Amino acid sequence: MPEFPTHEYDVLIIGAGGAGLRAAVEAAGQGVTVGVICKSLLGKAHTVMAEGGAAAALANVDERDGWRVHFADTMRGGQYLSNWKMAEIHAKEAPDRIRELEAWGALFDRTEDGRILQRNFGGHAYPRLAHVGDRTGLEMIRALQDHGVHQGIDFQMECTVTRLLLAGGRVVGAFAYDRDRGRFRVFHAKAVVVATGGLGKAFRITSNSWEGTGDGHALAYEAGAELLDMEFVQFHPTGMVWPPSVRGILVTEGVRGEGGVLRNSEGERFMFDNVPELYKSQTADTEEEGWRYCTGDPNARRPPELLTRDHVARSILKEVEEGRGSPHGGAFLDIAWLREKIPNHADHIKRKLPSMYHQFKQLADLDITEEPMEVGPTTHYAMGGVRVDAETQMSVVPGLFAAGECAAGLHGANRLGGNSLSDLLVFGMRAGEHAARFARENGLEGLDDAAVAGAAEAALAPFEGDQTAGENPYQIQYDLQDIMQDRVGIIRDGSKLESALEGIAQLRARAKAASAPGSREYNSGWHTALDLGHLLTVAEAIARAALEREESRGAQTRDDFPDKDPEWGKVNLVLTKGESGQMEIERVPIPPITEDLAQIIEEMG
Ligand code: FUM
Repeated sequence: MPEFPTHEYDVLIIGAGGAGLRAAVEAAGQGVTVGVICKSLLGKAHTVMAEGGAAAALANVDERDGWRVHFADTMRGGQYLSNWKMAEIHAKEAPDRIRELEAWGALFDRTEDGRILQRNFGGHAYPRLAHVGDRTGLEMIRALQDHGVHQGIDFQMECTVTRLLLAGGRVVGAFAYDRDRGRFRVFHAKAVVVATGGLGKAFRITSNSWEGTGDGHALAYEAGAELLDMEFVQFHPTGMVWPPSVRGILVTEGVRGEGGVLRNSEGERFMFDNVPELYKSQTADTEEEGWRYCTGDPNARRPPELLTRDHVARSILKEVEEGRGSPHGGAFLDIAWLREKIPNHADHIKRKLPSMYHQFKQLADLDITEEPMEVGPTTHYAMGGVRVDAETQMSVVPGLFAAGECAAGLHGANRLGGNSLSDLLVFGMRAGEHAARFARENGLEGLDDAAVAGAAEAALAPFEGDQTAGENPYQIQYDLQDIMQDRVGIIRDGSKLESALEGIAQLRARAKAASAPGSREYNSGWHTALDLGHLLTVAEAIARAALEREESRGAQTRDDFPDKDPEWGKVNLVLTKGESGQMEIERVPIPPITEDLAQIIEEMG
């Protein structure tokens, strides 16, 4: 076997976004050695794209809030497919995780009496999002990094994992390469946490940046873990639509939380006509009532712009399809209208939404304090991911844990905004704690030399054969993005999904012939060729699960099955790699909810 530089840790964490960092901090605090692999530079993570806040029932702004309401909101938002145990743990533990982060230096915005300020977000009954202007994810990453660097954690930046290594029936590490010089590296560990975030790069329009290629999902699946709820991909209703070079960049839900409204080309607030039955009793009837809600009136109901993301995204699409969209195929998001309500509204907007102000000024030459923004849906978040134990975050592969976006369970069919940041804190901590425990209780299993050699050979495949005749990996990725956007997007149907699966199979064949002319140094074509394997796996998983689920629920809308089917409300879909290497799908019944939790849902209406 060739010799590769080998790093040894008790706990190896793949991914340095919020979940990976929180897991690393916890594991290091338990006294084990911790290594963190970061595909990009430290600090650059999709966590920063959760801008508007972290949901936690601190009850600082409305004292009626509490973990029970947060639990019920999360279950309703997830259309009752969420793992109820995770939803309970999350709602109970999120406030402590936020206070802890504050103690570590995160500078949240303040109420007048000095407590952490909370804002409204879609699907949350009360103002619940602890925030730092519209830069919450960024501040969380900063605070976690500052805390983590003093804990002896070993960070490996610009390093990509291509395969998890197995031996003795458990995970024993990972095979990776340096993105700059292309050198191979072996990571040998007692426990591994995947925390690689999402898979938005499988779609053409996305808020994710280049790292979001579903690595953790695919690595875990290939290692024998189960994937859960993969059909549910969140299309955030408000991404930029113009100019074309910035299409998909996130426009935080915080804009609507601060009173921003959606209008069509005829100037109508179309969301009033799009309130689903499930939310009718909680939604304002008039513009005036919606505004009173935004000012904190406890007797007002939320404006329809603060319905859950799946509804808002579909409603924008409907306006566009029916010819009432904005010039570049979206809707208008107007926060400038606050001039009618707030003196010095421009200063107010710049203070509450500083990043949005600069983003539109610099990228679209538009002043959001004066003019409405043009926005449309953008692929933002995967509700589906590695199936894990609710308490420990361990997958079915011994020693393999997952946390954050690449794990699944909490969000069911649709995630509430702000629940991602609290998810990654709550379950990142748990993953770190239990990975450290696993490492303490289990020795270091030896590496399998053949597995390491096989991983090296597979990583070199794009250099084999005739380099001038091979397929261009970028072209394959573009073609995949087109297939996913057009046939597995917001509105799906059986024939589109079947043709997507055929297209993905053809791309798989082409990806085998992908070539990366040049050397291993600074070769981004090679990196793309290696990412393709992960992207194709997650794309197939999404399309397969979407085809299997013959109903519309949460983020899955099927034109051919437009209704919610109570029978489908009783099962999750689980995907595994079968013995023949094919993806297999199984309907797994949701365990009956405990009586006390069922009663909470009942009481919350
Ligand atoms: O709109 C946002 O600020 C995104 C938040 C989230 O995805 O949780």
